[in-house]
Amino acid sequence: MQALTDSLGRIHTYLRLSVTDRCNYRCVYCMPAEGMSWMPRQDLLSYEELGRVVGVFATMGIQRVRLTGGEPLVRRDITRLVRVIADTPGIRDVAMTTNAHFLAPHADDLAAAGLTRLNISLDTLRADRFHRLTRGGKLSRVLDGIDAARAAGLVPIKINAVVMEGENDDEVEDLVEFFSRHAADTELRFIEYMPFEARWHRCVPARRLRERLARRWTLTPLRQVAGEGPGSGAGPARTWRIEETGLVVGFISPITEHFCATCNRLRLMADGHLRTCLAHEDTPSLRDLVRSGATDADLEAAIRAMVMGKPWGHDCQLEGGEVFEGVMTSVGG
Ligand code: 5AD
Ligand code: SF4
Repeated sequence: MQALTDSLGRIHTYLRLSVTDRCNYRCVYCMPAEGMSWMPRQDLLSYEELGRVVGVFATMGIQRVRLTGGEPLVRRDITRLVRVIADTPGIRDVAMTTNAHFLAPHADDLAAAGLTRLNISLDTLRADRFHRLTRGGKLSRVLDGIDAARAAGLVPIKINAVVMEGENDDEVEDLVEFFSRHAADTELRFIEYMPFEARWHRCVPARRLRERLARRWTLTPLRQVAGEGPGSGAGPARTWRIEETGLVVGFISPITEHFCATCNRLRLMADGHLRTCLAHEDTPSLRDLVRSGATDADLEAAIRAMVMGKPWGHDCQLEGGEVFEGVMTSVGG
């Protein structure tokens, strides 16, 4: 098998599938308050089409798939898609990123269908603030969802907290304390806010958070290079262990410690556009090919050409540089 490489020699083994751009929440860092225009339903790849496309990617070395959104659990019968992907030869890991609002009743079925792991977004532990930052969300639903995931064996659970100055950066220690109670099967990750289209919020550099945590706890470095680790399926988080509680804390710092050089991922948007880089909107469509009778060999050739055209990365900085193109909810993080 010929690996899926780009012009810089980066090898792609990881595919993020955005299954819908819709979401029941509207997090302040992800969507504008108003004026979102959703993809028309007939534009979305069907589960049959997605299954076929994932099969083609798998023959080119994609081994891990993550379902994202919007919110994947708002797409009807998502468990069926999980099963299709889990049954695809070559795919050995099917994960999901969710806000967990609808998770509790589905956790067992998702696990039975072959889902292996979950990332859950949670930026605050205060119900009123949660309601405001998600524009209408309910914290208790999410906490129930996390418990259900644990009960279903969908562990280790990764909790994603986007940290924004003046919004939730005062809760970093509280989050560490809260999840330290579940240190055995939970990893807490702090994510730098990425400006899409506009700088709505202020990013808190990961290093500043680490310095703060180090004042209170002993931090032992674990994985320090993004993308490098056992099995090379390693993600962008650099991780430390809090010695006093055993909790592993990760930092995803796309702005201040960016990891473009080791990027192993591709993103397929719900309407079939392949986004080779999160930062750039220049995204060719696989859907048109799929719907115009392309063979698997045609798809493979098209995908290889698209990946060859992958940009080197982004130049977004704390105070300057470019911003990321597009809207996060249609790209899926
Ligand atoms: N910056 C950083 N992370 C973001 N996410 C969404 N929007 C942004 C942004 N602007 C991430 C959140 C969420 C996931 C779906 O995408 O971590 O958990
Ligand atoms: Fe929905 Fe996730 Fe975006 Fe929040 S971050 S609006 S939960 S897709």
